[in-house]
Amino acid sequence: MRVGVLTGGGDSPATNAAIRAIVKKGTAEGFDIFGLKNGWAGLVENDLRELTSADVAGILPKGGTILGTSRTNPFKLDVVDKVRKTVADNALDAIIAIGGDDTCGVLHKLNNISDPVVGVGIPQTIDNDIPGTDYAIGFDTAVSIVADACDKLHTTAESHHRVMILEVMGRDAGHIALEGGLAGGADIILIPEQQFELDKICDRIKERKAAGKTFSIIVVAEGAKPAGEDQIVRTEKVDQFGHVLLGGIGEYLTTEVEKCTEIESRVTILGHLQRGGQPTAYDRVLATRFGVEAINFVKRKLWDQMVSLRGNKVVAVPLGEALDGVKPVDPKLYETAMLFY
Ligand code: F6P
Repeated sequence: MRVGVLTGGGDSPATNAAIRAIVKKGTAEGFDIFGLKNGWAGLVENDLRELTSADVAGILPKGGTILGTSRTNPFKLDVVDKVRKTVADNALDAIIAIGGDDTCGVLHKLNNISDPVVGVGIPQTIDNDIPGTDYAIGFDTAVSIVADACDKLHTTAESHHRVMILEVMGRDAGHIALEGGLAGGADIILIPEQQFELDKICDRIKERKAAGKTFSIIVVAEGAKPAGEDQIVRTEKVDQFGHVLLGGIGEYLTTEVEKCTEIESRVTILGHLQRGGQPTAYDRVLATRFGVEAINFVKRKLWDQMVSLRGNKVVAVPLGEALDGVKPVDPKLYETAMLFY
């Protein structure tokens, strides 16, 4: 079989580990594996090359994606015919799409049109908000980076008796903020699923001060919003999937918290540091398992499915079901975090 692999949307650590596994397992099965450049753009522009073991040697610990990525949406651009032509011209039997709901959503649509382009999805997003899987590639690394940032912010918070606010990614769900904040000992965690009241945050910080704790750490997801207000957007411009760029909630909180508590406050926006650098061992193993299983799905012609982690098992979940909505944080875990709030 001839299999194309692409990586789309925001990059995540350990994506290369998945590509490596696909090439190793695919070639062991006698398949020819082709790397498509820059997400769905590779299929639109017929930009691909064969990948051999030599191409994936040494990429396991590297962040980013050797294939490049983009937020190209062939449906929005109305170029599905070009995608089909690339598939036909290169005699590709299947596509493995590695990415979040947008990237895998395009694959789901392609699987279900007349004259379909078939394939398998692999969940990869640091946001970990895909309903069909417990973990997506990159999430564990992002959480470790947030925990490390909290540890570092604690030193300045304690020394200067400040409120330190850490803005992290997570546009529709607060998985990174919740788990990163829990691991990093944050005093307050704000997530998109739960609108927050400024008064309560200020009261909490004042209570801490009255109890002798002269500093506080707040971790806030970029998509969190004050009760009754909209998310803060950095720019109204939307990408090809209709998303605006979020950002600014950290600045907003810093100003407001300083005003109401009269405690000096500072913001750190962690941004793309959460998506960069070496993947954790957990992410490398997960990505490797996903890559190998994706080739098994191709071998079995198990189309329109996503390789997913359920508990500790890698299973097949139909893409339509796997991508249905946004996976919110586990309320039980949120409750646990609230114990320390
Ligand atoms: O990878 C998903 C995500 O991290 C979102 O949480 C964030 O809003 C978005 O990507 C930012 O992406 P970029 O700035 O790279 O377009």
